[in-house]
Amino acid sequence: MERFGSVSFGPVLLVCLMSGASALLHTANLHSQCKSCDPHPADCRSYQCISNCSVSKVCPNPQDVCAAVWWRQAGVVTVETRCHNPTQPLRGVMLEDYSSSDCVLTIRHASGHNLRLCACTGRDCNERMLLNKPSEDLELVIMTASENKPFRLPQLCKFCDFESTECNATGVCESSCNITSICEDPEEVCVSAWRRSEGKALIETVCHNPALKFRGQYLTDYNNTRCEMKKVKGMEDFYICSCNAEECNDRLIFTGEADRVSLSAERKNLLTLLLLVLVPLLIAAVLLVSLFYFVCVCRQQKCKVPATKGMDSETCAIIMSDDNRSDSSSANANSLNHNTELLPVQLDAVVGKGRFAEVFRAKLKQASESPQTVAVKIFPYDEYASWKTEWEIFSDAELQHENVLQFITAEDRKTARQYWLITAYHERGNLQEFLSQHVIGWDELCQLGRSLARGVAHLHSDRTPCGRAKVAIVHRDLKSANVLVKSDLTCCLCDFGLSLRLDSSTSPEELANSGQVGTARYMAPEVLESRMDLENIESFKQADVYSMALVLWEIMSRCSATGDVREYEPPFGKLKEHPCVESMKDDVIRDRLRPEIPASWSNHMGVHLLSSTIEECWDHDPEARLTAQCVVERFGDISSAVIPPLSSDIKSTEDSGNDQK
Ligand code: ADE
Repeated sequence: MERFGSVSFGPVLLVCLMSGASALLHTANLHSQCKSCDPHPADCRSYQCISNCSVSKVCPNPQDVCAAVWWRQAGVVTVETRCHNPTQPLRGVMLEDYSSSDCVLTIRHASGHNLRLCACTGRDCNERMLLNKPSEDLELVIMTASENKPFRLPQLCKFCDFESTECNATGVCESSCNITSICEDPEEVCVSAWRRSEGKALIETVCHNPALKFRGQYLTDYNNTRCEMKKVKGMEDFYICSCNAEECNDRLIFTGEADRVSLSAERKNLLTLLLLVLVPLLIAAVLLVSLFYFVCVCRQQKCKVPATKGMDSETCAIIMSDDNRSDSSSANANSLNHNTELLPVQLDAVVGKGRFAEVFRAKLKQASESPQTVAVKIFPYDEYASWKTEWEIFSDAELQHENVLQFITAEDRKTARQYWLITAYHERGNLQEFLSQHVIGWDELCQLGRSLARGVAHLHSDRTPCGRAKVAIVHRDLKSANVLVKSDLTCCLCDFGLSLRLDSSTSPEELANSGQVGTARYMAPEVLESRMDLENIESFKQADVYSMALVLWEIMSRCSATGDVREYEPPFGKLKEHPCVESMKDDVIRDRLRPEIPASWSNHMGVHLLSSTIEECWDHDPEARLTAQCVVERFGDISSAVIPPLSSDIKSTEDSGNDQK
């Protein structure tokens, strides 16, 4: 028993052990282990792709081999890995070559899809897929999904060989091929041919290497992105096109049509370009023209001096214009038009007396108009030079400004042996008279002071407020008696008998001889001393600014905003006195005196600030003085910064224009 047992049991055990081991071994050998991932982007380089699948699975069936499905969509290579029973079709395709350990992708046209499939035997052999290796000398390039290295993928082309078609080789035809193929060779391009054979039209769609002849022809247009059909020379009804873009051989553009298409595309492009360029240009031009127009209109309106009531060119004796100004510059009055009708002026009363002339209030009686009050400055024939100087100054049309006395005309009244200057009339009279009779408030101070500075700034400027060129003029006799007060309590400058035009027409001699003129009381120290730099036109302006500062002081001295207002007094002394140059020199140069700035002027911030401005204007050093334009700006800054207390406002309003009793 024991022997039987030992004899019979031993071999059975051995067989069992062996068969168990063999079964285990068999199972291990027969069940493949494969990469098994749903579609995901693959990493392709050169002519191989790595699936990037991290799942490795023992296949459920012993027959299963490893397989991969490869396709390209929108330039991305996608791979699906799986176990596959090779006795069954994969994506409708029976795989034959699966015994190799390499998974070599081959193109399959499965129900219109462009796929590459492969199958292999061996653990995870579908991890790496090989594309059909093209000949070694060709550049092997395809796109990697993971890196942006430039690889070239084989082209996707329509590939139906021959198909009958309705296309009659005109216009644009669709191939109606429903097979898109990945070309075998990355060098291959898409090609289409149209031919008519035995009355039947055929379209051929293929991949083709342009290095080789196609139907006996070398392809010339294979770098196109569109398939533009060209008639094959010497062949009836035979057209070929080639192109290098995905499925570009599906749409066949016949010659002529291609031209037309490209022509119309070009036209479209040109039109778009024109629209893009011309429309903004046109808009810009329209805007510019409108802007220009508005600026002009604005300028004209802004700069227009209101027409003198009742004046017209025919009734004016001598209308000041650029034309007759050149006449007037000649040395005597004979250059005037003596035939010109004189204005119907009736003199009323003397309103002022100057060095060389008297000023009358007068009535200008124009037909069909009610009489206009004007001022007539009458020069005796002996004072021709003064009349001429002032006329020349007035005759510059660019002098017109709201703060400069408005000029109407000049006349040679031969029978009376008089020269006339007819101007606007201002019933408030001159500033000296006005200040001696009125106390003013802060607002009036600002109005009178700023308008005075504006008038001087305009006179000195070589530009009109509208930007036109203008000759700079210096007044040289600025004083409160030569400033008129208009009805709106603004100032205008008058009496230009000593004025000088600072242009090339003024000779250096004239400048050199023009050393000491004006009224001693208002003369700047350098004028009193006759030490002006006569070659520098700025020095004339600086002397005017000094005089203007004294006038500003006069205005300030009558302002009630500081509390106490003294009697009107001209700068440096009593009204009736006429200090001579020598006594003024003692005060202004030797003693460096200036009109007093009372301590009470610091009670009002605005007056205090303006006092400092005035002091800067009467600086002994002409160069250190402010310009008239700067004073205008100071007035603007100070008047807008200073808001006087309500009570002071009311007081100043009440004060303004009140006769002093
Ligand atoms: N005094 C001098 N010129 C005058 C004018 N134009 N109007 C009033 N008074 C003046």
